[in-house]
Amino acid sequence: MTRQTDLAYAAELDAHDPLAHFRERFVISDPDLIYMDGNSLGRLPRATVTLAQNLIQQQWGERLIRNWNEGWFTAPERVGAKIADLIGAEPDEVIVADSTSVNLFKLVVAALRIQQGRSRILTDNLNFPSDHYILQGAIDLLDKQHRLDILPSPDGIHGPVTELQHRLDSQTALLTLSHTVFKSGYVYDMPAITSAAHVAGALVLWDLSHSVGSVPVDLHAAQVDLAIGCTYKYLNGGPGAPAFLYIRRDLQDVLSNPLAGWMGQRDLFNFELEYRPAMGLRHFLTGTPPIVSLSLIEPGIDLLLEAGLDNLRAKSLRQSEYLINLWEALLQQLGFTLNTPREADRRGSHVSLGHTESLRIDQALIHEMNVLPDFRPPDTIRLGIAPLYTSYRDIYTAVTRLQKIVIERLYEKYPKEAPLVT
Ligand SMILES: Cc1ncc(COP(=O)(O)O)c(C=O)c1O
Repeated sequence: MTRQTDLAYAAELDAHDPLAHFRERFVISDPDLIYMDGNSLGRLPRATVTLAQNLIQQQWGERLIRNWNEGWFTAPERVGAKIADLIGAEPDEVIVADSTSVNLFKLVVAALRIQQGRSRILTDNLNFPSDHYILQGAIDLLDKQHRLDILPSPDGIHGPVTELQHRLDSQTALLTLSHTVFKSGYVYDMPAITSAAHVAGALVLWDLSHSVGSVPVDLHAAQVDLAIGCTYKYLNGGPGAPAFLYIRRDLQDVLSNPLAGWMGQRDLFNFELEYRPAMGLRHFLTGTPPIVSLSLIEPGIDLLLEAGLDNLRAKSLRQSEYLINLWEALLQQLGFTLNTPREADRRGSHVSLGHTESLRIDQALIHEMNVLPDFRPPDTIRLGIAPLYTSYRDIYTAVTRLQKIVIERLYEKYPKEAPLVT
């Protein structure tokens, strides 16, 4: 045993953590619960509870329809502008709308329509399944004029970077990737990949779902064309909260929304029957925004902006390094593999551990150890680090409970079938 594997060491790290006080800004209803799934569903900020009460009682209950002119109508842009601050975009380049999948669909179809004469879409097999389904659907919609090239990762952890760079050519219409990969947590080099795609004349669309609020992103510095992302993970926006989309300013009036609707119509309250898209990003809205869940995204973003993304990234890296060191000292000999990049600059904010019994170990963690991670088949347990509220003690406890489950074979009583949501 080295000092690093002591609980006292974790307590010392917490005592010196300059962001530790942010944990109190969240609802922690069970202080003994070790929550390691902020990469899937962020915790509830206290300020969100207060805002929810105001939204329901005052804004909806008292102000009623008047509130559309008192902040609701402009909420997609207002919240989008705050997200822009987290991803290196201008305030008028991000808007909140729909789900991540729907936003991807809108942007992919719009991008393919302006890339006439190019017939390939490039992605990798680490991209989120929904992104693959959307790409297949977009190809069907556009009469199967495009081919989807899916490049395989060399090891299931890292992106196929060299392959991608070789495959980009004059036929590539669009390159789309998850910036931080959902399973392994691998982070692509956004400026390098974007620049290689641009040299080939391709447009680039990044899925920022696992990056926004956890990994520094500078869309402008990388000259990114398009991006999408979700708000319920590190932004703590709440289950099913609407997503966001980014379109570089010079492309905003060039691209057309394939799901044109009245919220994207210029002067919509003239109720003209002919569609005339609003200028800027607004024409990428379709129907009425879900105001309650959209509004509730804002307090979580405010917390991230207050803490500062560089500070959050620094803590996240220290914490994932700590977790990996604990894995090396305590878990590796028990059959756990590290399914996340070892290189800090290629790592997002969750650490994935593999084991032949991962599913049942995950069930034991949840049902008898009061630890909440998630499981991704075939063999990955993801441990999410949300530096606004994850403590070093949380990480220490999660790892030592994993160790106990395997040493005492506590997983053996759990079924081999996965529950509905893992
Ligand atoms: C990387 C990534 N992309 C897309 C999605 C789908 O998001 P939505 O359900 O908002 O469409 C997810 C969901 O977890 C995701 O992790």
